[in-house]
Amino acid sequence: MALVAIDGPGGSGKSTVAAALAKRLGWERLDTGAMYRAVALLALRHQVGVFDGPALAGLARAMELDVGERIVLDGEDVTTEIRSEAVDAVVSPISAHPAVRAELVARQRAWAAEHQTAVVEGRDIGSVVLPDAVLKVYLDAHPEVRAARRAGQRETALDAALSAALARRDAADSTREHAPLHVAADALLIDSSELGVEEVVERLLAALEERGVRP
Ligand code: DC
Repeated sequence: MALVAIDGPGGSGKSTVAAALAKRLGWERLDTGAMYRAVALLALRHQVGVFDGPALAGLARAMELDVGERIVLDGEDVTTEIRSEAVDAVVSPISAHPAVRAELVARQRAWAAEHQTAVVEGRDIGSVVLPDAVLKVYLDAHPEVRAARRAGQRETALDAALSAALARRDAADSTREHAPLHVAADALLIDSSELGVEEVVERLLAALEERGVRP
């Protein structure tokens, strides 16, 4: 079993780096943010409030979710829909419920045990989900860089509202009571503000090699 945990705030480049690293290694990748987003999408559709922990956990427990190249929720491809502004607006408080987290963390651990070699990205992967990961990475970038990347992904203009929404979500994810976003003690901290994807990936491959893991 060899697992790489990549944590960091929105727009830090986690998804891009995780995908590029997984490709170089020939390993699978799991985007755990997509799992919280799927629960948020279900909550919107079923009109379940963001404070109703038991009902939200029920949605998480009952859903059939496949997180790969495409995100397939109960048989429907929701890859684009889970990245909408509507989902952005509710995913953070929904992900703060311990019962929701328990359900998704169990699925993430089962997925990792099944795949054995993988890159897993999120907020609490190195600290909670996979504390025995061979490499833990905390990826960060300046807030302006992260907001610009998020606008680029959306193909929208970078404006004050987008920056403020991202900052609000980061603050909520970092200060929540359960499994907040923080740098694990043994994590490799990388600021990607001025680094290209390939540079970050090279650093991670070097760190893996130091730990005796070769592609
Ligand atoms: O990485 P992302 O923006 O797709 O994540 C969406 C939300 O899900 C984010 O606001 C925090 C939450 N999340 C979490 O709490 N734990 C994870 N492991 C991944 C995401």
